Amino acid sequence: MPFAKSQLITLERKPHFADESFRSIRTQIDFLAVPSPIKSILVTSAVAESGKSFVAANLATVMAQTGRKVILVDADLRRPRLHAIFSCPQTPGFTTAISKKLPITNVLHETPIPNLKILPSGPLPPNPVELLASPPAHDALQQLSQQADLIVLDTSPAIAVTDAILLSHMVDGVLYILRPGHNSRKLDRRAIELLTQVHARLLGVIVNGMRADDEASDYAMSY
Ligand SMILES: Nc1ncnc2c1ncn2[C@@H]1O[C@H](COP(=O)(O)OP(=O)(O)OP(=O)(O)O)[C@@H](O)[C@H]1O
Ligand SMILES: [Mg+2]
Repeated sequence: MPFAKSQLITLERKPHFADESFRSIRTQIDFLAVPSPIKSILVTSAVAESGKSFVAANLATVMAQTGRKVILVDADLRRPRLHAIFSCPQTPGFTTAISKKLPITNVLHETPIPNLKILPSGPLPPNPVELLASPPAHDALQQLSQQADLIVLDTSPAIAVTDAILLSHMVDGVLYILRPGHNSRKLDRRAIELLTQVHARLLGVIVNGMRADDEASDYAMSY
């Protein structure tokens, strides 16, 4: 994934060199979805600022552009960012629905992109892990799956906190973001090890933030 100048590059009118990368990732995911469909994808990385939210937002956008109903979930209950990327309110959101026992569909927000809805984080809870591990959170994700062809979850870094590892059980696949030079390879190895230990289905690794003129300015998919 090349380095881009704006956040939601896949929505810009001007073609962007990274558009093609996101479309290729979409195609790769579609290939992996045979024979069993991939209805939920979690995006994570080892540490902060790797581009998880950037990738989640743009991937959800290119998926919705094919006519699929997509719900983008801000499951990063520590440093949520999707509401800022899509300029929508942070609340009500995921945590509101859980704490107030509201149907999850009541707290979905529309986006300017047809077929794409966003579930912002809601107010930040004191105990994100307990909240994400709770049966109501699990039920909420199941309800979302019934409302959409695909749900994309943005999460917290997998090394610092267990949120993403915990959620990786509840999704059909995980995309791992690797930002070269951003953190040690040891941390990436550790994060992937943690995901493998809980039998998460690793769909692939996206190498993010390469320079456009770099020969390797593309993504890497494995499995
Ligand atoms: N390929 C890219 N091109 C341009 N900017 C990028 C790219 N990837 C990430 N960024 C920028 O880097 C910053 C960090 O990205 P982002 O917020 O997506 O990371 P994150 O992994 O979600 O961080 P956090 O762990 O804090 O949630 C943002 O300003 C984002 O716009
Ligand atoms: Mg983020």
